[in-house]
Amino acid sequence: MSEIAILEVNGKKYEFPLIKGSENELAIDIKTLRGVTEGVTTIDAGFKNTGSCKSAVTFLDGEKGILRYRGYAIEDLADKADFLETSYLLIFGELPTAEQLEKFHVDIANESLVDEEMKKILNGFPKSSHPMGVISALTSALISFNPESVNVESEEEMYKAIVMIMAKFPVLSAWTLRKKAGLPLDYGDKHLGYVENLYKMMFSKPNEEFKINPIVLDALDKLLILHADHEQNCSTSTVRIVGSSHAGLFASLSAGISALWGPLHGGANQAVIEMLEDIKKDGGDYQKYIAKAKDKSDPFRLMGFGHRVYKNFDPRAKIIQVAAEQVLADLGIEDPVLDIARGLADVALNDEYFKSRNLYPNVDFYSGIIYRALGIPVEMFTVMFAIGRLPGWIAQWKEMRENHEPIGRPRQLYVGEKFREFKAVENR
Ligand code: SDX
Repeated sequence: MSEIAILEVNGKKYEFPLIKGSENELAIDIKTLRGVTEGVTTIDAGFKNTGSCKSAVTFLDGEKGILRYRGYAIEDLADKADFLETSYLLIFGELPTAEQLEKFHVDIANESLVDEEMKKILNGFPKSSHPMGVISALTSALISFNPESVNVESEEEMYKAIVMIMAKFPVLSAWTLRKKAGLPLDYGDKHLGYVENLYKMMFSKPNEEFKINPIVLDALDKLLILHADHEQNCSTSTVRIVGSSHAGLFASLSAGISALWGPLHGGANQAVIEMLEDIKKDGGDYQKYIAKAKDKSDPFRLMGFGHRVYKNFDPRAKIIQVAAEQVLADLGIEDPVLDIARGLADVALNDEYFKSRNLYPNVDFYSGIIYRALGIPVEMFTVMFAIGRLPGWIAQWKEMRENHEPIGRPRQLYVGEKFREFKAVENR
C-alpha cells in the first residue's frame, strides 16, 4: 500500500506522508502543506478529523468501544489495579513494581502538606462559589508557594512537580468540599493509602471516629481509574496547548480544570443528575425529555449521552453502570433517579434519532449516581472527575514537553472585512 496521500489543488498534485500508528490508524502528515501549496491550509471546526500530536499514553477505538492506558485494557485496570498504580502507569509508562509504587506513595505523602497561607485564598471565596472555579484558582495559586514547579527542565524537577501536585490537589479538593459544607479542614493522614486519604479528607467529621466503608473506598478508586485519561479530549488538549508555551505544569492544569468544567465536557456529570432530578420532579416523564432532546428548536440535550469519539457504548459507562447497581445495593440505597436513568437509556437506545447518530450513554451518565450514593454533593462531581483525570493530564503534559512539541498555534480562514479606510468619528 502506498505510504503517501495525494492532494490535488487547482489542478496541481501534492504528496504527503501517510503515517501509521501502532494500532494501524493512518494519519496524513500535512506539516509541509502551507509551504508547498503557497498558502493553502485546512480547517476542521472542533478538530473532529485532525490529530494534534502523536501520543503513547492512551488508545481508544470509538467504533469498537476500546479504551487502554499504555496498552492495558480499562476493564483489567478497573478490576485489578488501584488508582495510584494506574496513575504511575499513565505518567511513567509502565506498571510499577511494589518498590516503585511504595516510593511513589511515600514521596507523595511527604509532599501532602499545603502551605497554611493557602487557606487565606480559600477563605476569600464565598461559600456559594462553584468548586471547579475554586480548585482551578487554588491550583494556580500553588505556583506562588512552589515556584520551583514552573521550570521543570530536568527529569528530577519534573518528578518533584508531579509528586507535588499529585499530593496537594486532593487536599485542596477536599478542602474545597469542606469549606462549602462548613466543616473544619482535614489535613489527611500520610499513613493512609492515596484514595483512603482522599476519602478521609473529604468525609471525616471532627466529632466522630473516622471509619472507612470498603464499598465506598472501592467505588471511589474504580471511578478515579475510569476517569484517569482519555487521549486528546477538550481539557487534555487545553493542558497540552497551555504547556506548549512552556507555562508550568500547575498553570497548565489550572487551565485544564476550567475546560473540564463545561457541561459539554466534565461538567456533564453534574448536569446529568440535575436533568434526572428535573425529570423526577416532572413525574418521571422521560419521554418528554427524549422529545426535547430530538427537537432541533429546543437547545436541550440529553446530558450524559453522545460522545465525540465513541460511536458505540463508552466502555467506562458499562463498568460504571454495573458499579452503580452494586454500590446502591451494597449500601441499601433506593435511588429513584437510577430507575429514571435506566428507563431513559432504554428508550433512547431504541430510538431512531439516537441510534442514527450513534448516541450512547457516556462516562458521565451513571457516575453521578454513584457519587450521590457516596454522599458527595452534586457541585463536587466535576471536581471528582478532575481528581481522576489529574494523572492523565500530567502524563500528556509530560509527553508533550519530553517530545519538545512546538508551541500550539492553529491557523484560521479569515472571513472578515477587506481593507477599509479609517473614518473620523464625525464622518461615521
Ligand atoms: C466527556 O472527548 C472526550 O473524551 C470527553 C470525555 C473524557 O473522558 O474526557 O469522554 C468526557 O466530556 C463526555 C461527554 C460529556 N458530555 C455530555 O454528556 C453532554 C451531552 N453530549 C453532547 O453535547 C455531545 O454528544 C458531545 C459534546 C459529547 C459530542 O458532541 P459532538 O461530537 O460535537 O457531536 P455533535 O454536537 O456534532 O452532535 C452530532 C449530532 C447532532 O445532531 P444533528 O446536527 O446531526 O441533527 O448528534 C446530536 C447533535 O444535535 N447530539 C445530541 C446529543 N449529542 C449529540 N442530541 C441530543 N442529546 C445529545 N446528548
